[in-house]
Amino acid sequence: MFKKMTMMIAALVLAIGLGACASSNEQEAGTNQGQDQGQNQGQPPAETTPATNVDAAAVYKQNCLVCHGANLEGQVGPNLQKVGATHTPEEISTIIHQGGNGMNAFEGVLSEDEISALVEWLSAKK
Ligand code: HEC
Repeated sequence: MFKKMTMMIAALVLAIGLGACASSNEQEAGTNQGQDQGQNQGQPPAETTPATNVDAAAVYKQNCLVCHGANLEGQVGPNLQKVGATHTPEEISTIIHQGGNGMNAFEGVLSEDEISALVEWLSAKK
């Protein structure tokens, strides 16, 4: 029963989807099924939220906290509480990628998404 319904909805969505492509997109957005279907097809969301949904603070805790402290106050590594004021995002990105002087490189360890989330997060520390 449920399976049959799903099939029917899928067929309906397909039909609506095809119709919407030919006419207008607003029509598609009007139906929930059409919307879900559209989003599942990997279209980029048109919102102004950051490019990633990585939780930079969580990545920091896992990878950076040991050396830079729970509150960015510094341990083995320097205090990062105002790092956004003294470093450009490019500099921070380079440091995270390449490390150096006692800091390990995170290129290949963290994903580029995680690194750019960290850069954005740290750049706001001023
Ligand atoms: C093994 C310890 C260690 C880890 C782990 C570590 N760092 Fe560092 N970090 C350092 C040290 C030491 C320096 C100072 C390097 C220097 O003086 O050139 C530093 C420098 C920095 C700087 C430059 C700060 C400044 O004022 O010059 C930034 C930004 C930074 N780290 C970010 C991070 C981030 C983000 C992570 C996690 C992805 C991280 N670090 C993980 C040890 C570490």
